[in-house]
Amino acid sequence: MVEAPTAGLKTLRFHFPPAPRSGREVVSIEDITHVYEDNILFLGANLLIERGDRIAILGPNGAGKSTLLRLMTGLEAPTEGQVKLGDHNVLPSYFEQNQAEALDLNKTVMATIHDEVPNWKNEEVRTLLGRFLFSEDTVFKAVATLSGGEKARLALAKMLLQPANFLILDEPTNHLDIPAKEMLEEALQNYDGTVIVVSHDRYFISQVANKIVEIREGELRLYRGNYHYYLEKVEEEKERARLEAIEAEKAAKAAEKRAKQREKQKQKQEAKKAKV
Ligand SMILES: Nc1ncnc2c1ncn2[C@@H]1O[C@H](COP(=O)(O)OP(=O)(O)OP(=O)(O)O)[C@@H](O)[C@H]1O
Ligand SMILES: [Mg+2]
Repeated sequence: MVEAPTAGLKTLRFHFPPAPRSGREVVSIEDITHVYEDNILFLGANLLIERGDRIAILGPNGAGKSTLLRLMTGLEAPTEGQVKLGDHNVLPSYFEQNQAEALDLNKTVMATIHDEVPNWKNEEVRTLLGRFLFSEDTVFKAVATLSGGEKARLALAKMLLQPANFLILDEPTNHLDIPAKEMLEEALQNYDGTVIVVSHDRYFISQVANKIVEIREGELRLYRGNYHYYLEKVEEEKERARLEAIEAEKAAKAAEKRAKQREKQKQKQEAKKAKV
């Protein structure tokens, strides 16, 4: 899982541990409706996530992205409908939007990782931390003294120790600087499991996602391509809607003209009758 450092290589690299293979169906979301008081987030939404998908979820603040991920983890149940994990060996691992806040502030960086993998040698833990851009002197710092970015990296490193084949990532790049983000991009590109990720970072999405899901009007719209494909399709949809609106306007005008003409005709005939 951890590559031996290569001399002369500036950026460090991390590879996910090979994911145990899951069945083809990873999650199926069937006709879900989800409501908080009078806030309807999903209304009859459907989605099938398949092995090897790397799906980015798009939608503005409050659209329900984090809620959708929580529904997939089973932490929350939909108001109506079903969210089912696949039957065959689906091992999810969840990175919450504020995962870094869940770290134990009193532990050191080293201990945070070592406690997860007690059988590892010190050297192995330090090598892993190196992959997550922790230098020699930061590994003994207490978590309480870390920056937001350092905490985010540590939380990611900790999460990725779990054997999993389905990563559920809620804004994993928040607080990450460019080298850390690039490391995560590359690791996700090489990952052989399934990923669902929420991010507002369009560049990150363009690097990692092979499908896009947009939350729109309570539905989950699936685009079976990368971010570039999604942008093209959305542009096409807009153009089609624009042309349809023009056509509808033309038709309405024509109908109005016809109605006026009929009215005129009627008046003419009535005037004729009155003369007779
Ligand atoms: N447990 C809850 N009870 C009531 N309302 C909730 C609950 N959880 C979320 N909401 C509301 O549901 C909406 C969607 O929240 P959610 O966190 O899923 O949005 P999001 O798309 O992840 O937004 P952001 O991009 O800001 O992270 C918000 O209006 C939020 O206030
Ligand atoms: Mg969110």
